[in-house]
Amino acid sequence: MNPSIASQRIAALQQAERERFIATHPRSVAQAEAARAHYLFGVPLHWMRDWPTPATLAVHSAQGITLTCADGHRYADFCLGDTGAMFGHSPAPLAHAIAEQAAQGLTCMLPSTRSPAVGEALQRVFGLPLWQMALSASDANRFVLRWARAITGRPQLLVFDGCYHGAVDDTLVDLDPATGRTLPRPSVLGQVHNHAAFTRVVPFNDLAALEAALAAGDVACLLAEPALTNFGLVPPADGFWPAVRALCRRHGVLFVMDETHTVSTALGGYARAHALDPDVLVVGKAVAGGLPCAVYGFTHAVGARMAAAKAAAPEGHSGIGTTLAGNALTLAALDAALTHLHTAPNYRHMLALAAELEQGLVHRIARAQRPWTVTRLGARLELQFMPHTPRHAQDVRDHAQSELEALTHLFMLNRGVLLTPFHSMMLVSPETREGDVAALLAVFEQLLDELAR
Ligand SMILES: Cc1ncc(COP(=O)(O)O)c(C=O)c1O
Repeated sequence: MNPSIASQRIAALQQAERERFIATHPRSVAQAEAARAHYLFGVPLHWMRDWPTPATLAVHSAQGITLTCADGHRYADFCLGDTGAMFGHSPAPLAHAIAEQAAQGLTCMLPSTRSPAVGEALQRVFGLPLWQMALSASDANRFVLRWARAITGRPQLLVFDGCYHGAVDDTLVDLDPATGRTLPRPSVLGQVHNHAAFTRVVPFNDLAALEAALAAGDVACLLAEPALTNFGLVPPADGFWPAVRALCRRHGVLFVMDETHTVSTALGGYARAHALDPDVLVVGKAVAGGLPCAVYGFTHAVGARMAAAKAAAPEGHSGIGTTLAGNALTLAALDAALTHLHTAPNYRHMLALAAELEQGLVHRIARAQRPWTVTRLGARLELQFMPHTPRHAQDVRDHAQSELEALTHLFMLNRGVLLTPFHSMMLVSPETREGDVAALLAVFEQLLDELAR
């Protein structure tokens, strides 16, 4: 069989799926129309329009992994809010803790009596002894970068090509493949500062490039995900992280792991499971079960340097922190999440079922003789329309098939299965059941049949 699929075939199927969506989602279509009067682009957050549906799917409710839309259709949700709801939508212990705390004060700009227990639980789950809080992973990363520059006195940051660490200006830079230079990311709006002057980008899995970028001795920290997850799922090569950590230590560079997505790997995240020994760790999104919350943890040595930097600074604003960070409601949710969601039995279930899903996808791809790959990191999987596991961001760019990705998403959504809209990512939660995996695989098989016709 010819493995490439004609773009006319993809376009024809996509058109049929768009018509099917419109015919079966009159309420979502009506809401999308009405919402234009009050929201720019018709949605509360502009990137909600980036889903490949002809109108935005309006959510009526979400419970476990079942998402119910305005038209009453039920979906097996494998997107799970792009990780925010990794433990399922509204897990009972979390909903209970939030309701209870809601009657006892939401925010006081003082620590609640839960703080010591939450600190202990953070250390138990993620391994680092000292913590600070933020409301989003973007904020946490921003604050970590500020601390890193403050305590090292160095101006430069290092990130990997294809990285995403949230709405963090310093990291919204790209690698120019022709020259190897760092460039401001052209899609970023309203940016007048040249962050490329203070951030270096190197390809993922490229130790020589990393070493060269550190050689000048002016880099404060390396901020990295343990695997790239925002540009397709790109796993680290064997031995990559121990070598990176050794380079960071040799050059006095803080080794910061952003585990916001890779917390899907294992209980406590990738860095803990693989003994990467980071200086600083960031976790957002699912850390408090999807309530706005992020945390960053660090070693005693880093904590001492942070305290010294703060003591040496003049009185006034530090530029670190926001008023609602560490509020009582968030702490109650975090407490419940660390106790009832970040557990070994939950991860056992997630990882076993994700492995089953991986096998099912791989088997069907092989049977259909498609040159596609499935890459898995614990409970997180990606269907990649390329013949091998990607090694770096350029590899992903070189094999991008956005029309096929969009078709896959819409085809599955129209048949009750939700994947992430950006790349074909699937996340397995403690609430996912074998029947959900079977449903996904059955729809995937239908898609393969349609594509083969
Ligand atoms: C690795 C990583 N870090 C940070 C963020 C930012 O998270 P938030 O948008 O919740 O601030 C994201 C968002 O996708 C992410 O993938």
